[in-house]
Amino acid sequence: MATTAAAATNIPLNCGLFSSQGFFGSTRGFQTRKSEKMNVKRVAGGVIKAVIELKPPPYPLDALQPHMSRETFEYHWGKHHRAYVDNLNKQIVGTELDGKPLEEIIIDTYNKGDFLPPFNNAAQAWNHEFFWGSMKPGGGGEPSGELLDLINRDFGSFEAFVKEFKAAAATQFGSGWAWLVYKANRLDVGNAVNPRPSDDDKKLAVVKSPNAVNPLVWDYFPLLTLDVWEHAYYLDFQNRRPDYISIFMEKLVSWEAVSLRLESAKAQAAEREREELKKRENEENGGPISEAKEVYLESDADDAEAV
Ligand SMILES: [Fe+2]
Repeated sequence: MATTAAAATNIPLNCGLFSSQGFFGSTRGFQTRKSEKMNVKRVAGGVIKAVIELKPPPYPLDALQPHMSRETFEYHWGKHHRAYVDNLNKQIVGTELDGKPLEEIIIDTYNKGDFLPPFNNAAQAWNHEFFWGSMKPGGGGEPSGELLDLINRDFGSFEAFVKEFKAAAATQFGSGWAWLVYKANRLDVGNAVNPRPSDDDKKLAVVKSPNAVNPLVWDYFPLLTLDVWEHAYYLDFQNRRPDYISIFMEKLVSWEAVSLRLESAKAQAAEREREELKKRENEENGGPISEAKEVYLESDADDAEAV
């Protein structure tokens, strides 16, 4: 898929979303994103156009069997995901969106909830790639390390988190998505900012979204998602969405991918905070606070008293 040069690294550091909305899809599967490249195509007249690329799942189409069948992947990735990408490219070719990173297209076309035509295809293209990266052969089980610590802190226990995530996925009416997200502390409404931000303000949360909407548009950092559109499970589970949800949690989730996404989300949130602080300092004080503080270094004061 189209992306920025930053995506060549494991942790993308800059894109339209990063600067304006906080996060992008490093969550798109940090590892899977590594190999993505801007697909540049020369078209008639020598004009160079960037196109969004359909990337295959990071495992063979039959790798998740028996929990998710090859047939499901052939339709879900091979037809549905492909159609979103193809339709998006048709919609944006020759427009000002052409050549932008996918995450930037999503934010631009979300248009504060008043969707522009390419939004659904753009968001669905992103959501599906993120979904493929949320699973792995031999997945499931429990997370570990900091991810587990935060889950315990913010949900009470891993079991409580699973219950909440399953409930979100099961109760999303009609088509949509369930998500685990990282909410960076970000009270900034133009005339006020969080006076005492701390890491404890940053929370994991479970959210659900209708149709193509994803948490990027709410300035959250997505960590895990489950597609609950019927096309995601009907071939394998027919109308038994709760069974599909349980198999996803027990056999398919890649907690390693979620942990990497959390790590990247925290790094990007910290970088954003540093940039915002720097900006405020420059706006309010005419220069970085750190320069002013140098006047009051303790060593200077001690020296003055000693004289
Ligand atoms: Fe889907």
